[in-house]
Amino acid sequence: MHKGKFYITTPIYYPSDNLHIGHAYTTVAADAIARFKKMTGYDTRFLTGSDEHGQKIERAAKSKGMTPGQHVDRIVAGFKLLWGRLEVEYDDFIRTTEPRHKKVVVTLFQKLYDQGDIYKASYEGWYCSPCEAFWVESKLDQGACPDCGRPVEMLQEESYFFRMSKYAGRLLEHIEAHPEFIQPPSRRNEMVSFIKSGLEDLCVSRTTFNWGIPVPFDHKHVIYVWIDALTNYISALGYGTEDDSLYKKYWPADVHLMAKDIVRFHSIIWPALLMAAGLELPRQVVAHGWLMLESGKMSKSKGNVVDPHVLVDKYGVDAIRYYLLRELPFGSDSYYSEDALVERINKDLANDLGNLVSRSIAMVEKYFGGIVQPAAAPEGPDQELIDLAEQTPLAVEECMDRLDLSSALAAIWRLVGRANKYVDESAPWTLAKDPARRDRLSTVMYNLSESLRFITILSSPFMPLLPARVWTQLGIPDRHELQIWESLSWGKLPPGTVVKRGEGLFPRIDTGTNK
Ligand code: MSP
Repeated sequence: MHKGKFYITTPIYYPSDNLHIGHAYTTVAADAIARFKKMTGYDTRFLTGSDEHGQKIERAAKSKGMTPGQHVDRIVAGFKLLWGRLEVEYDDFIRTTEPRHKKVVVTLFQKLYDQGDIYKASYEGWYCSPCEAFWVESKLDQGACPDCGRPVEMLQEESYFFRMSKYAGRLLEHIEAHPEFIQPPSRRNEMVSFIKSGLEDLCVSRTTFNWGIPVPFDHKHVIYVWIDALTNYISALGYGTEDDSLYKKYWPADVHLMAKDIVRFHSIIWPALLMAAGLELPRQVVAHGWLMLESGKMSKSKGNVVDPHVLVDKYGVDAIRYYLLRELPFGSDSYYSEDALVERINKDLANDLGNLVSRSIAMVEKYFGGIVQPAAAPEGPDQELIDLAEQTPLAVEECMDRLDLSSALAAIWRLVGRANKYVDESAPWTLAKDPARRDRLSTVMYNLSESLRFITILSSPFMPLLPARVWTQLGIPDRHELQIWESLSWGKLPPGTVVKRGEGLFPRIDTGTNK
């Protein structure tokens, strides 16, 4: 089964400091989407990376008494360690300090300059130094930077400019012709108003710092960090180099995933640059909400961050991934709290899923010596369970196509809930007392075992460590053909399979002592 290609990216994060669970959310979400697409037959490519240039990084390095290079090497090693711990399976990790990236940025800059889309001019404007961005008066928010709210200063600089204004009309047409291009619609509306309020040409070089890619024909200037950064999505595919096979295969990106803070860069600057370069635009720019703390948006500069390493140590990867992906509703903000995390673990994972697995396996062991028996014709609640199991893959796929991960998990958990209710309705412990009802008991146990197989396959993109643990207990650790998306038609689990009870999947967390 081959459904075509799927290219998904996360933002490339700033190595100004270690990452927090806000960043982890985006990357884990992209990973779950990539895994789901892979599982359902797409030739998938998943890119993440680090955005290593700019004044912020230069300053962060200085404050630690390091060179920018030493600083980013150390922090980026931490990014990779974190993604490993969170079971993030990216296909490529691009660093903007790599020669393969710099080459493409320089080529693109030169191309736009040669064709007259980049020009040099003297510029006077309001400058936000933390954001490294110039603003015209009309875009300021009560005299402050509209992005970060901090004060701006009047600066005069000789700079290179990208003729972004030239592309405003085509950009609007594109957004209007492709309603799916910017998601969710609230963000699209914001971008449309932003463009309609007037697009200025974009200042694309700086002379105020050195830590960046020099403008190829004028080494006094370094290339503006956002042009440098956005280009990662094609430099990682080898665009414009001798071997551009990945570019040919995977571009345009299917999804650029991010939070709402950087949608404007991705849905205005990036498409305008691509138009100027004569390249295809990404299919979708998708913005999720922010993970908030009661003290506001989690951010390194505010110092109110939650360290994902600590959470993984304490609760395990699958639990953290489940919590993040289930809790953040698609498109809106959500508050992080450890209480909510513990409640999810205890309720959804320990009570609902963990108990379903352990009691089902325990009953097959108790009543049939661990051997799954064949099912007889459905009766009572059987058909309802089977129908729901068979409908769930489609329901999950529909949610995933909308990138609504939380609803996808909710759909899987409806099946978990139905299976738990089925245990109560069928009361195997009563059936077991009556030898005449042996066939009925086999059927109930078969249906439960088969439900576990469905639930595990469907959960695997979200909780990558879960499947191996369940397959061992369900007695099919080496039966790849029973663990794949294509095997999701009811009745594939072979009677005769020998189950074996193992450790509880998600131990309950004692809320009295363990918060
Ligand atoms: N380097 C730029 C991105 C360049 S992409 C070409 C950048 N880096 S960042 O380190 O600041 O990362 C911003 C992104 O991190 C957000 O868009 C989002 O994906 C993620 N998040 C950071 N904090 C977050 C929350 N509190 N909540 C949700 N996502 C968060 O911007």
